[in-house]
Amino acid sequence: MSLRFPKNFYWGAATSAYQVEGRIKNDWSSAGEKYDAGIACDHYNRFEEDFDLARKMNNNAHRFSIEWARIEPIEGKFNQAEIEHYRQVIQALKKRNLEPFVTLWHFTLPKWFADKGGWLDLGASQYFQRYAERMVNEFKDLVKFWVTMNEPDIYLAHSYFKGYWPPFSKSFFRTQQVLKTLVNTHKNIHRAVHKISPDSFVGITKFNTQYKGVLKFFSDYYWNHQILQAIKDHKRFFDFIGLDYYISHSLFEILKISRREKTDMGWEIRPEGIYNVLKDLERYKKPIFITENGLADAKDGKRVKFIIDHLKWVHKAIEDGVDVRGYFHWSLIDNFEWDKGFEPRFGLVEIDYKNNLKRNPRPSSKVYAEICKNNAVNT
Ligand code: BGC
Repeated sequence: MSLRFPKNFYWGAATSAYQVEGRIKNDWSSAGEKYDAGIACDHYNRFEEDFDLARKMNNNAHRFSIEWARIEPIEGKFNQAEIEHYRQVIQALKKRNLEPFVTLWHFTLPKWFADKGGWLDLGASQYFQRYAERMVNEFKDLVKFWVTMNEPDIYLAHSYFKGYWPPFSKSFFRTQQVLKTLVNTHKNIHRAVHKISPDSFVGITKFNTQYKGVLKFFSDYYWNHQILQAIKDHKRFFDFIGLDYYISHSLFEILKISRREKTDMGWEIRPEGIYNVLKDLERYKKPIFITENGLADAKDGKRVKFIIDHLKWVHKAIEDGVDVRGYFHWSLIDNFEWDKGFEPRFGLVEIDYKNNLKRNPRPSSKVYAEICKNNAVNT
């Protein structure tokens, strides 16, 4: 059976600057060897080649992030050469008919900002807004879709609560403080972007998860809805929701007695979860883009089934009335998976780290290319 997606559906893949570009100096690179992505995939120099691969996959959109630390390496000093670099990146996408979805902040921060106290600094929101406004002013003629911030929930959990990521804080109190700042910052940026570029579409991405059974009662609001609810006036403060869906949690999974298939990260594969999470987001009455969905699968043995099964459920959600307008696979190419390093392989395209960072499209990319071409998935 062929399941057709709506006309004008966006098909793409996603990346983030620090994970792919290489040679970035920021709060992560200065946190010690383990956190330094080094040359990563050298996407900074090879973006044209990578976008050619996306085009070959029949993508019509691409999500990436701008590295604030490149643009404003020293407080208040904007680097025009780096702004021009991102202009070339965006133009390279447009030339290939790939609609740019631009994330303004994807986890990493300029060192000077982190040294001031990062998001705990009283001026944090204004610093970020100054950078964000500059980006929108520079690129407003080229970019319509803006993501203010990627997964504030994951950032808060890893950087402020569990202490896995810079600034390695383990404090409930600070987590709550930063949460408040991020919510206000998102609202400010939403307003600011619209002032500069009234027709733009501004959203946030959320790592939402399906909770099963008793976990739903305890965690659903806290994890899935707290931030979206805090951006109180839904109509005014986001034009779309970016859903990043990877996992579901059940008691069996937490107790490690689940028999479900898992990814190389050990994450349980639950395609039906994407349907439930999408239905659950319907309450906000906003268009939804799936801004990330994917798996670590070095052997590429599970990726095809993963993509098809998830898309089947996305299609059902659309049939059942959810306004889903696009799907971005995570990721276009293998990349630096934060504190897990280069081992997990999320790419539709393999990066051969031992052989000059050679790009080798995985077999699954051919299947994804067919889906994008036909705007349909065959089940
Ligand atoms: C993040 C990506 C990350 C992916 C896989 C998402 O939470 O936005 O940066 O690589 O998950 O873990």
